[in-house]
Amino acid sequence: MNQQIDPWGQVNIKNYENLCKDFGIEEFSKILHKIPDPTLAMRRGVIFGHKDFELVLQAIKEKKDFIMMTGLMPSGTFHFGHKTVVDQMIYYQEKGAECFITVADIEAYLTRDITLEKAREIAINEYLTNYIALGLKPKKMNFYFQSNWKKEYNNLSKFISKRTTFNEIKSIYGDTNPAKITSALIQVADILHPQLKEFGGPRPTVVPVGADQLPHINFTRDIATRARSEFNFIRPSATFNILIPGLRGGKMSSSITESYIAFTDTPETVAKKIRKYAFSGGQATIEEHRKKGGDPNIDVSYQWLRMLFEPDDKKLEKIYNEYKSGKLLTGELKEILIEKVNSFLKEHQRKREQAKKHIDKFILQE
Ligand code: TRP
Repeated sequence: MNQQIDPWGQVNIKNYENLCKDFGIEEFSKILHKIPDPTLAMRRGVIFGHKDFELVLQAIKEKKDFIMMTGLMPSGTFHFGHKTVVDQMIYYQEKGAECFITVADIEAYLTRDITLEKAREIAINEYLTNYIALGLKPKKMNFYFQSNWKKEYNNLSKFISKRTTFNEIKSIYGDTNPAKITSALIQVADILHPQLKEFGGPRPTVVPVGADQLPHINFTRDIATRARSEFNFIRPSATFNILIPGLRGGKMSSSITESYIAFTDTPETVAKKIRKYAFSGGQATIEEHRKKGGDPNIDVSYQWLRMLFEPDDKKLEKIYNEYKSGKLLTGELKEILIEKVNSFLKEHQRKREQAKKHIDKFILQE
């Protein structure tokens, strides 16, 4: 195996094609034409891979029951790097999925030293509020905290320990410790428990996640197979998205303010951050830029337009060509992005205020 992924470490995947080969991930682009009303991230290759997505596609087409299950790590500010998964949650909900979304508060406690109270506050104020503002509905929705969910789920997280070995855990996760192993087993239960009879029984399941979660998906699928005789699980499907680049080109991370735009940033902050930090694919001087042109493939403003903010293919292509030919300058490209981000946020921040009134509808079950 050429690449190792540590889901709790600093994941920096350089080559997604190799990743597909190394981990047996199917390329998403090959099935894109079969997908009804694909999301922007699906169309633009932000979702680069999948496992067994056909099972879910079939359920969507035949209007059969299926599950959307994913989780969030409540460790900091909600930013645009998280939006791709939320757009998918909403997409599957609209296609009829029963949704299970977990707040990984136990995992945050075990692996990031975050208290359950802090995790709860972040989950509600940062994540849930934005999910609702982006369009998530309370219908067929189970939004739960790992620390506070039903007993069959809790039992499952322990039962499955019988279906693995130390050797398997070492080969999947490399260096681990009991806290990480516990987190991994809980995540397996997160993904499989919606198929227990108490939660509606075996159904195709889609788990939209970032590529860093791949080891958990593989582990879960193996355990699902081994526990089939007992629970009749259908092996869960998954989609994988690339990690959207941070403003300065490196990782987008809640712990580096210059790397992201938050959903609560003001128009002035947005403009300042983009002008000051957005990594440019342009040349050092205007003369040189006019002559040689810029490189949209490394320019973060262009990449953000492609991955997040410009749904119109024709407009995007025009920007690409003009930047590459040198007609469009880096400063001008940045202004296009600033305008897009700010008009999105203006509307979003209004919806966020509305969303606060609906939070109770999502966490009633407890
Ligand atoms: N481990 C995930 C993260 O770090 C959070 C998570 C917990 C999760 N349970 C899950 C993701 C189940 C997908 C499915 O972000």
